[in-house]
Amino acid sequence: MFLVVIYGLVLALPLLYLVQRRALSQSPQSPPVDSPPEEKKSLKTIMQPPRDDLDPPKDDPFTLDELKQFDGSDNSKPIYVSIKGTIFDVTRKSDVYGPGKSYNIFAGKDGSKGLGMSSLKPEDAVPDYSDLPENEKNVLNDWFLFFQKRYNIIGRVTDMPTSVSNLANL
Ligand code: HEM
Repeated sequence: MFLVVIYGLVLALPLLYLVQRRALSQSPQSPPVDSPPEEKKSLKTIMQPPRDDLDPPKDDPFTLDELKQFDGSDNSKPIYVSIKGTIFDVTRKSDVYGPGKSYNIFAGKDGSKGLGMSSLKPEDAVPDYSDLPENEKNVLNDWFLFFQKRYNIIGRVTDMPTSVSNLANL
């Protein structure tokens, strides 16, 4: 009996090794090839994927004051987030931009500076990002691209601070 068990093990172990090696070599190890390079790094891999069903961008004018009513506090209205004066409709993500949610700080306003600084402080969520250092301006541009691939553009802010209104969008 003992010999039969030993014999069985001698036969089974190499087989098990081969099966395991095959399973490992077939498991998906790399990110999907179609995702753009900037999507492959850091936290963004766990974020929502880009969409292919976006509407053509609209160019409706809004003042910063008009934008305030679209902060999610009135749920009969859409939720808007402006980045560098371009306004995105983020209503379908009210789970993060709605009242009391993590990113509500960016709703109903242009909080470009805070996005660039990776800050959720209310005092940083302001439209004037002109004094950000180069690396934080790049972070801000990455967010712009992130939103551009995921949300419909519904308009633009007409009264951005003069320090940034003359800067090119990207
Ligand atoms: C502990 C730190 C943080 C963690 C663990 C975290 C985690 C996440 C996760 C998991 C998402 C994806 C949410 C979703 O798609 O539903 C997300 C999205 C996002 N995060 Fe953070 N985050 C952190 C800090 C910050 C900070 C400091 C900022 C300030 C700029 C920020 C801004 C954003 C924005 C704008 C989105 C995009 C939401 C969207 O439109 O899909 N996060 N974060």
